Amino acid sequence: MPIRYVFVYLLYLCVMREGKVEYMAKENISVLMDEKRVFTPSKESVENTNVKQWMEKHNIKTLDELYKKGGDWQWFWDEISKDLVEWYRPYKKVVEWNPPWVKWFVGAEYNIVHDALDKHVKTWRKNKVAFIYEGEPGEVKKYTYNDLYIEVNKMANALKKLGVKKGDRVGIYLPMVPELPIAMLACAKIGAVHSVVFSGFSALAFRDRVNDCEAKVVFTCDSFYRRGKKVQLKKQADEAVENAPSVKHVIVCKRTGDTVSWNEGRDIWWDDAIKDMPKECETEHLDANDPLFFLYTSGTTGKPKGIIHAHGGYAVGTSYTLKWVFDMKEEDIWWCAADIGWITGHSYIVYAPLILGATSVLYEGAPDWPQPDRWWDIIERYGVTLLYTSPTSIRSFMRQGEEWPDKHDLSTLRLLGSVGEPINPEAWMWYYKVIGKEHCQIMDTWWQTETGHFVISPLPLTPLKPGSATRPLPGLSAEVFNEEGKPIQNAGGNLVLTHPWPGMLRGIYKNPDRYQETYWSKFDNTYLAGDVTRKDSDGFFWIQGRADDVLNVSGHRIGNSEVESALVSHPLVAEAAVIGKPHEIKGESIASFVVLRKGTTPSEELKKQLREHVGKEMGKIARPDEIWFVNDVPKTRSGKIMRRVIRAKAMGNDVGDTSTLANPEAVDGLSKGQ
Ligand code: WT7
Repeated sequence: MPIRYVFVYLLYLCVMREGKVEYMAKENISVLMDEKRVFTPSKESVENTNVKQWMEKHNIKTLDELYKKGGDWQWFWDEISKDLVEWYRPYKKVVEWNPPWVKWFVGAEYNIVHDALDKHVKTWRKNKVAFIYEGEPGEVKKYTYNDLYIEVNKMANALKKLGVKKGDRVGIYLPMVPELPIAMLACAKIGAVHSVVFSGFSALAFRDRVNDCEAKVVFTCDSFYRRGKKVQLKKQADEAVENAPSVKHVIVCKRTGDTVSWNEGRDIWWDDAIKDMPKECETEHLDANDPLFFLYTSGTTGKPKGIIHAHGGYAVGTSYTLKWVFDMKEEDIWWCAADIGWITGHSYIVYAPLILGATSVLYEGAPDWPQPDRWWDIIERYGVTLLYTSPTSIRSFMRQGEEWPDKHDLSTLRLLGSVGEPINPEAWMWYYKVIGKEHCQIMDTWWQTETGHFVISPLPLTPLKPGSATRPLPGLSAEVFNEEGKPIQNAGGNLVLTHPWPGMLRGIYKNPDRYQETYWSKFDNTYLAGDVTRKDSDGFFWIQGRADDVLNVSGHRIGNSEVESALVSHPLVAEAAVIGKPHEIKGESIASFVVLRKGTTPSEELKKQLREHVGKEMGKIARPDEIWFVNDVPKTRSGKIMRRVIRAKAMGNDVGDTSTLANPEAVDGLSKGQ
């Protein structure tokens, strides 16, 4: 048996025994580090990588030297941007940093659509496939760069005709259909700002986001397929727009052909909107720092934050990371199996792959529909070479068993990626062995809606430790700080980013104070990521989870307080406390402790009602897995719910000091919940 299998097996044993990364004994990590080749691909495949080519061009011999070069970050980004984007007018300065406000590629005239589409149609890529779209029922449609270019131009012209101008906001509530990226690019083309809301979110969640950004126009579709059923999206959009006074028009794309209710004068079918529209539309020349989109993400208050991203820096940061980390080459078939409604899809389904001129798979539906091998079938049929997904998906595939992937030829795969939550070594090993057949590196990429692109991630030539996202990429810099703001090693602390990066958020829409407070107030001029992290003696980062009251369910951020407000908005609920519990597949599950209004009789039926109520308020993903009726929830004297105490109690751990509580008796009351 080759020596490397012994190491893999040893690690596997340790993982099976311990389960979680942070418990992994130091000796076992060293075993891996001593034998770096264990998780490093063959020499030949490293030789030809994009990063290796760049190193040769710059006469850089080793990985350490490369990271060091990246430490000169202004030089680095200047250099990197040359390979990736084309400005209408060059920048005067790489970066202007007035903490916490940043400008990148200052003085440049730019539009991301130039790099995503316009430049390609002038080359041989005109007829290259940009998207291979597969609907859940199985229909396939391919879009070349030229097809996309024309569709985007027509829709951009249609938007202009509806009065959408540079700087106006457009809400997009669409499932995974080609019209979603087309709508986004059409907005960007004319300098409008898109705000995509995940189609799994509720009407109310969509309404709140549309109102916050005061969208003038909204995109939606009749309905779409999910696990063989149809989701009536137009109905939800109607409900939202009814109470969104800024919205003048709703553009409706026909996905299923279902009959929908119609608001004459406000609603327009997509096909009617683009009929007779010219196939050309000039791309608006913008300032490189003009906003490209807002994307809402949960924080510690009940109100989601509208994260702002800008054209220029975002284009450079997303395309650099995809090109280097996933080694994107002309002939690759890329599949980022996320939803475009989240940042992962914005950056790595829409913008970065298009900038690089890649061919991507776009799949509408559920991974296990009609059978648990739908994904493996897709990989085999299209010859997918690069796959990017989440630990939650990997864990659910693990549960379904190896026989499903084993039915398919997955030999085209060459790199595998993971994102959204810490990947436990057990899932890492399964992914590595069963899907990657031990010849694909696992790219565990740490980043956030706010960072826009990968920050901590391996490169194809980085030695890997299962469960660690390794180190910050060249040009980016992260540290782990203790409460005093001093860098620490081998202990959990605050993950921070110590200088700005191109894809950095430009603020929170209409809320500069919250931007300052959330990310920049704990440490001077240093970005606080909100994750508890440990940096080991080799400088590898181990992300352990959120430090704040934000849940991570299946790799998606949900604020505890948002779920609490949703529960409390039910007429029979007086108070609610929501905590996350470790969950085998989803990473975290939602447990809630509910105090009912006086005179209300607790019942199983009511629990069901409350679950549905949260689903309606927020979307299915936020429905609590557990609901416990209790008499009281522990609070501080100022009325703040002590989730830490509740969590400890629920997990059977020591609750610690409860003397600061206004109602310590509530702690014991929790276990009497029903
Ligand atoms: C939070 C950001 C970035 C796209 C998906 C989520 C967690 C993300 C990893 C990873 C451990 C991760 C963090 C982060 N997270 N990637 N590779 N390992 N944790 O975007 O909704 O903005 O959430 O997801 O907790 O702060 P998001």
